[in-house]
Amino acid sequence: MLRRLLILGVLLVAQVGFSQANCNICSSATKKACVSKTQYQNCTTDDRPTGPIYTCPNNTYCSVTAAVCSATTAEIACAECNQCGDYFACTGTSSFALCFQGSVIPNATYSCNPGQVCSKSLTTICGDSATGTVPSCSYYDSAAEVGNFCLTKASAGRFPYPNDPSCSRYINCFYKGSAWNGTVWNCPTAKPYFSSTSLICTSTKPTNCT
Ligand SMILES: *[C@@H]1O[C@H](CO)[C@@H](O)[C@H](O)[C@H]1NC(C)=O
Ligand SMILES: *[C@@H]1O[C@H](CO)[C@@H](O)[C@H](O)[C@H]1NC(C)=O
Ligand SMILES: *[C@@H]1O[C@H](CO)[C@@H](O)[C@H](O)[C@H]1NC(C)=O
Ligand SMILES: *[C@@H]1O[C@H](CO)[C@@H](O)[C@H](O)[C@H]1NC(C)=O
Repeated sequence: MLRRLLILGVLLVAQVGFSQANCNICSSATKKACVSKTQYQNCTTDDRPTGPIYTCPNNTYCSVTAAVCSATTAEIACAECNQCGDYFACTGTSSFALCFQGSVIPNATYSCNPGQVCSKSLTTICGDSATGTVPSCSYYDSAAEVGNFCLTKASAGRFPYPNDPSCSRYINCFYKGSAWNGTVWNCPTAKPYFSSTSLICTSTKPTNCT
């Protein structure tokens, strides 16, 4: 009996771990990666999310089941933004907020160090993206986060998408209607990598990209 309980516990932990880490990860079943609750990208043969961002039809969500877009909310693969764990919630790719009794504490929001991303499954909150930590929450859930990024930059032009190890996209910031705002763009298939030095899409993979 104890043994069976132990096995069940291990299975539950394994399942929780699975459902927590499904943003920006290529699914073997769909060959797609969910990049937000309702959006996904195709994957390369070496399991790198790439190309345009597709949006699921209304009232469906990105899942890792064969259908890609599913109306079953239990199958949502990437919905980790602003969800409190025991102590904190990831609020963006590289930002987090502290939680109290299951709710985000207003104004208690922080940024990870440069090069780090927020992962719900880490006790250290932030981990190095270069060593394989995958953000558990994506920017795509909120146009406001891209706007905030450009507000911080306060400069027009293209910037590498923060903490994106695949280097497949960039943020174009612009000043419009007396405010900074931006849009996310994907590099084209012929030039799939955004170079953080030349600030254009290139066909050669920069050394810091996976
Ligand atoms: C993405 O995959 C779908 C098939 O699942 C395909 O129809 C589409 O052309 C692919 N997009 C690109 C840009 O390769
Ligand atoms: C999906 O929802 C959007 C916004 O609510 C609406 O503009 C659009 O017409 C809907 N599309 C379909 C196919 O129902
Ligand atoms: C939280 O931030 C808002 C806007 O910056 C401010 O108006 C408010 O007073 C802050 N609340 C606390 C508790 O610090
Ligand atoms: C920024 O752009 C998005 C989409 O283009 C729009 O929904 C949003 O309202 C804009 N934000 C501001 C502050 O203009």
